[in-house]
This record gives sequence, C-alpha cells and structure tokens, in this order.
Amino acid sequence: MILAFETSCDDSAVAIMDMTGKLVANEISSQIPFHQQYGGVVPEIASRQHLLTLPLVLRYTLEKNGLTLNDIKAIAVTSAPGLVGSLLVGISYAKTLSWIKNIPLIPVDHLEGHLLAPFLDNPELTFPYLGLIASGGHTHLVVARELGSYQLLGKTIDDAVGEAYDKVAKMLGFHYPGGPVVDKLAAEYLHPDIDFPLPLKGKKVLNFSFSGLKTAVRNEALSRGVYVERRKLLHYDDFMRSEDSPKKRDIMNIASSFQKIVEKIISKRFQQALRMYPHKKIVITGGVAANRGLRKELTKLASNRQIDFYHPQTKNCTDNAAMIAYVALQYIKKGNKNFDNNLKLNASPRSPLGQLELEHSV
Ligand code: KG4
Ligand code: ZN
Repeated sequence: MILAFETSCDDSAVAIMDMTGKLVANEISSQIPFHQQYGGVVPEIASRQHLLTLPLVLRYTLEKNGLTLNDIKAIAVTSAPGLVGSLLVGISYAKTLSWIKNIPLIPVDHLEGHLLAPFLDNPELTFPYLGLIASGGHTHLVVARELGSYQLLGKTIDDAVGEAYDKVAKMLGFHYPGGPVVDKLAAEYLHPDIDFPLPLKGKKVLNFSFSGLKTAVRNEALSRGVYVERRKLLHYDDFMRSEDSPKKRDIMNIASSFQKIVEKIISKRFQQALRMYPHKKIVITGGVAANRGLRKELTKLASNRQIDFYHPQTKNCTDNAAMIAYVALQYIKKGNKNFDNNLKLNASPRSPLGQLELEHSV
C-alpha cells in the first residue's frame, strides 16, 4: 500500500491507496478556522498547524483502517508547488518514515495531482484530454497527453481564478474561502443583471486574467455601498439569516453576476482551445472545479459538442492526498524512475508543471 501526504497549503491530508489503485483512506484536516480571522492563509500558522496535525491524522487514518506502518510499501508526498514551510513539514515527515521503514519515497507535483485527480472518480477516463487546473494558486489550461507529458495552452497572467473568488467574497464581506460562498449565493440569486467586462476580449490567446474583473467588482460594490474593507466578516449562513434589504440583494446580485462571468470566461476558453486543439474529453479540476455553476456550464458545452466532461468529486477537487497517492502509483507502475535514495528531497514553491511555458502562441 502507498501512504500519501499533502501539506502544500492549509490542509493536512493523508491517504492510503492499495497497489491496484483502490483508495483505502482519504482523510483531511482543514485549518480554515485558524486562518479565517486573518482573511486568508497565514503561512507561519499553516506550517505550525501541519506540525501538530499531520501525525494525528496519520495515526487516526491507520487505526481507523486497522493498519500499521508495516503495511505501507511506499510513501508519496507533495514536494511542490506551495508554501515552502508547509511543504517542508510533509516532506520531513515523509522522509523520516521512508528512512525508518526503508521504503521508497515518491515526490509528487501538486499540480499533476490536481490534473490527474479526475481519474480517482471516473474509471472510464483515459488520456488525452484538455484539462483546466483551477485552484487558489493556479489557472492552467493543459493538454494531458499521457502520464508526465503535458502541454500548457494558457494560464493566468495575474490572479488565479480561486484567488479571484476569495477576493470578491471578501470585498462583499465574507470569510475565506470565498469560492463556496459565491457558489451558494449564485444558486440563490438566479437573475443576476450586472454585466462585468470579459477579460482579454478580442485577444487571440488562451490565457486568463482576473485582476481587471476584480477591480470592476470592487467598483460596483463601492458604487452600491456594499464594499467591505477591514470590517467584521460574515459566514454564509449568518448572512442568509440576516433580514432582507436592498443591500443584501445588491451583494447577492454582484456575487451571482461575478459567477456568471467566470462561467463565461472558462467556457469561452474551452471552446477556443477545442477549436485549435480538438479533443473528445474536457476536464476541470482543483478547488474551483467544485463550483456547481461551472460544472453546469461545462456539461452544457460538452453536450453541445458531443464530447465528454469530467471532474473529480468535490472532496477530490480541493486539496487532498488521494490525488498524490494516485500520481505516485502511476509512476511506480511505469517503473522508469528510481525512488529509493530520496533523502535529499527538498521543497520548492514552483513545480515542473507550474513552470511550463506556452509552446505555442496565437
Ligand atoms: O485546489 P485548492 O483546494 O487549493 C489550491 O491548490 O489552491 O483550491 C482552493 C480554492 C480557493 O480559492 C477556494 O475559494 C476555491 O478553491 N473553491 C471554490 C469552490 N470551492 C473551493 N471556488 C468556486 N466555487 C467553489 N464551490
Ligand atoms: Zn491545490
């Protein structure tokens, strides 16, 4: 069995997968409550919290499944990209266990984990496909040709899409993470009527940009008197329980209109990409792939074009260790890498997939 750790940001995650690919355990301890009062992830708090939590999550995972470290034949760990302090906790822990038990240590690129995560929940999925990694740190449109062979078609030139969701929600007065809040507000407010500008309009590129859109949302919130700056932030449920008012409706309208334009941006990029690089399968993955509006929009797009659309189940969209175990297993099966003497493994804020350059500019 493979034991996998994921600590690249604010989730301490542990998974166990058997050598046939069956997921035996997939546990996550979220740190969100520790960061919420600061409006985002605080790196120093994140690494300290991993140090406290990771051994407990591991013990819980093993005991719950009646396993011991003797059942583990390889260890996988996210080595990049992410917060270096957080990555280092997972890597040091994984290295120590690999050394003590004398078993291979497999470093995994977090972005490759996200890109291949749809395989966890869709056994019929095969390479090649057109995939969008849409997370809090990345917005990468990639052709996944086969294991380890990825072509970057476009990426964000400023904010990541998840970051834009978080910032918009914060401006409107909501706690981190903002994506799930905007998702829920949009599902409640069905007739958004603010036309936010489409970024990079008229440019023949497959890149993304969210910072201009974020400014447009800020201006709209300011003009309607609902822009919140350094005031007490709310949770979704408290907001929904508050009395109906024009301001409440303005907040919901802005959130829902933002959701609508993000759906349009992403759907449009997929359509452009499919015209240039025809594929039979499209994939969205990473935290933002949990978004119901986006899933609906891409389901529609796929059905119009008679192609297939895949995404991981919600738990496997956001950061998790199951995707790390999955990638490690694929490389073990491929058998062309030696993972034995990996005690020199270090953390990196950047990863090979994250560093890919556009091969083709249009
Ligand atoms: O993949 P992930 O867990 O961490 C990174 O690798 O960054 O993604 C986290 C991001 C956050 O920005 C969060 O707001 C966003 O995913 N997110 C969502 C939803 N759930 C999480 N964005 C939109 N709609 C959602 N339902
Ligand atoms: Zn992630």
